[in-house]
Amino acid sequence: TNHIISIRDYTRRDIDYLLERAGEFDTRTYDRHALEEKLLALLFFEPSTRTRMSFETAMARLGGKSISVDSVEASSIVKGETLADTIRVVSGYADAIVLRHPKEGAARLASEFATVPVINAGDGAGQHPSQTLLDLYTIRQSMPIDGINVGMLGDLRYGRTAHSLAYALSLYGATIHTIAPGGLELPANILHELRERGMEVIQHDDVSDIVAELDVLYVTRIQRERFPDSASYYNVASSYRITPDLLEDVQEHLMVLHPLPRAGEIDSGVDGLPYARYFEQSRNGVPVRMALLHEVMK
Ligand code: CP
Repeated sequence: TNHIISIRDYTRRDIDYLLERAGEFDTRTYDRHALEEKLLALLFFEPSTRTRMSFETAMARLGGKSISVDSVEASSIVKGETLADTIRVVSGYADAIVLRHPKEGAARLASEFATVPVINAGDGAGQHPSQTLLDLYTIRQSMPIDGINVGMLGDLRYGRTAHSLAYALSLYGATIHTIAPGGLELPANILHELRERGMEVIQHDDVSDIVAELDVLYVTRIQRERFPDSASYYNVASSYRITPDLLEDVQEHLMVLHPLPRAGEIDSGVDGLPYARYFEQSRNGVPVRMALLHEVMK
């Protein structure tokens, strides 16, 4: 079955193909009945605005329908049903399942019990492959991805969007400049694997040291929900913030991206600058997810 679990499962050729397909769905000349009669199950066991709504939008634009469970509390998981049983059951209703889950590895596990494709919409601090595809799609609208300098700022320990994107960028010869508060650096195993893949990963203490050299600045939120207690969150909360002042002497083509939601990491004064591309990025979730849904169900 055609599951989409981790960006690590894909070659550059696979990714380029999906980005090309997304471009075709962006033209609005696609077949609006392509997924008629198809049903998508959205199982979101963690909050979401963009991922959930853009998958639903993508499905509707292709003529398909969606069914959903919006929380653990609203499902029979509160009665003790396992994820495995939930997936077995939902496989009998829908043609594909989009799963967001707080536990890393949940989507992979679900794929072992599903008889229809499972798309990982975020598994704890693990992976968020459809987000990465829309991140790459957004970058590619402005510049070739090959060899670019990408600053990754924020919670690189728990941030699954950063993990997924870093793996994908390693296929394009990009260099990553990491800037993370103490304790929120990229996990050692990820850093090791990126370097094994030949990627240059350079650590910096302050974003202002490197911002002038960047092609892309990828900002992430501190993933408060993953912290063991609130004291350790408050130790690092508000430790970085992108302001217009910081962007005074950057390359003209710099793109500031953020998977969103933001929680104070980007000053709203940045929104009107040409570098601010994060709302366009979230819009790109629709054509990218149309391409994914079409690929797994058609
Ligand atoms: N970027 C992203 O995954 O946003 P949501 O949590 O709102 O889906």
